[in-house]
Amino acid sequence: MKGTLSPPGNFAGQAGKCPKERLVIKGGHRLEGTVRTSGAKNAALPILAATLLSESTCEILNVPLLEDIRFFISLLHELGTDTSASFENRVSAVTVDASSISGYEAPHELVRLIRASILVLGPLIARIGRARVSMPGGCAIGNRPINLHLKGLELMGAEYEVSNGFVDIRTKGLGGARIYLDFPSVTCTENLLMAAVLARGTTVIENAAREPEIVDLAKMLKNMGARISGEGSDTLKIEGVRYLGGTRWSIIPDRIEAGTYIMAAGAAGGTLEITDTVPSHLDSAISKLRAAGMKIDCSGDSIFVESSGRLKSVDVITQPYPGFPTDLQAQFMVLMCLAQGLSVITENIFENRFMHVAELKRLGADIKIEGRSAIIRGVKKFTGAPVQATDLRASACLVLAGLAARGVTEITDIHHLDRGYENMEAKLAALGADIKRINA
Ligand code: EPU
Repeated sequence: MKGTLSPPGNFAGQAGKCPKERLVIKGGHRLEGTVRTSGAKNAALPILAATLLSESTCEILNVPLLEDIRFFISLLHELGTDTSASFENRVSAVTVDASSISGYEAPHELVRLIRASILVLGPLIARIGRARVSMPGGCAIGNRPINLHLKGLELMGAEYEVSNGFVDIRTKGLGGARIYLDFPSVTCTENLLMAAVLARGTTVIENAAREPEIVDLAKMLKNMGARISGEGSDTLKIEGVRYLGGTRWSIIPDRIEAGTYIMAAGAAGGTLEITDTVPSHLDSAISKLRAAGMKIDCSGDSIFVESSGRLKSVDVITQPYPGFPTDLQAQFMVLMCLAQGLSVITENIFENRFMHVAELKRLGADIKIEGRSAIIRGVKKFTGAPVQATDLRASACLVLAGLAARGVTEITDIHHLDRGYENMEAKLAALGADIKRINA
């Protein structure tokens, strides 16, 4: 396949561009075959933001073809960068020349479509001393404030004001600081890291997030000339440099996508090889899935999965990396809904990430919510029904539930799915699933 991911211009109009599109799944087909993991959305977004720090051209490879990426490219255009994207033979590349950034504002129309727009805050304040970003409000999964981002940047010498729905942040020059994060927030760690690489002096971020996506960002920044140590640990040390050069960087595989396909095999039954992945990034999820009865072997960059029969109930608590990821909680819940016994899934990261529960109940699940925990009594089967996707990972959970259900499941509002899964229905159909996108 050959083509262009994103012509310059405004992608804002694309949200819900086909609001009537839905997925129709006839459940009950085992999955067999090989599926390739795409590049990680949550690494690609901060890495695209980091290109704003460079005065030379950056070429980013293995960028997944997703709606969120389109929106982010649109934002880079809005800021005056020269950005182009292409994809050929499953390798997609985005080239960004941010040598002459002409803007500093992330408008509401884009921030409302993609919360991760907040990731331009750190690079813009570091590079040009000013950023004006529409305040991301709450979303389907929680309130999601940005107080830690702002507090960290303030400690580095920035001043900010929130008015008319925007945060306006300025500095005459950032300086190094010692910053302790009350919570190891992922995008906050990324914003502060990107701000610190061009700040004067040394910055230490304590209780930093340790996700593989942060390690990928730190390595990319080092490749551009940044001086960073401690990536992957809870303490990041950054010695500011005067300027950063260009880079050619390939995004790590999407661990959440790979985990979703492992769980798809758990839901539908089957034998899969998931390629182009980093199995160690999924250690916590794999150990829970093995405890539930799935056979999972890892070799090189492949994960081999076998699942048949009924799984056993296992309790899970979501935690920052290396704990069980919140982004796999909804998908794991599908397996526990159909497992033998009682399980408790506790969501510790987001306060409202159980929107999928009501939809799973429509398929026959037995779930009770108590505070931050879902108490699940396994049932023997799901029966297909119309359901509505409410956010990205809830959409994936409903796809897995549809694969497992007897009869037909129709999922509406699937634009949520397109934000974070590349060609999901094509990948599943190639594995033997009966899944179609209908536009009517
Ligand atoms: N939080 C604060 N104040 C802050 C920042 C965060 O209170 O200033 C709280 C949040 O409200 C939340 C918790 O800290 O309760 C953790 O949120 P975090 O900031 O770590 O999440 P994020 O950076 O906004 C990223 C991913 C999410 C993923 C989370 C947790 C990106 C672009 N997004 O969000 O991905 O769920 O980390 O791992 O990297 C997804 O892909 O579906 C997705 C939502």
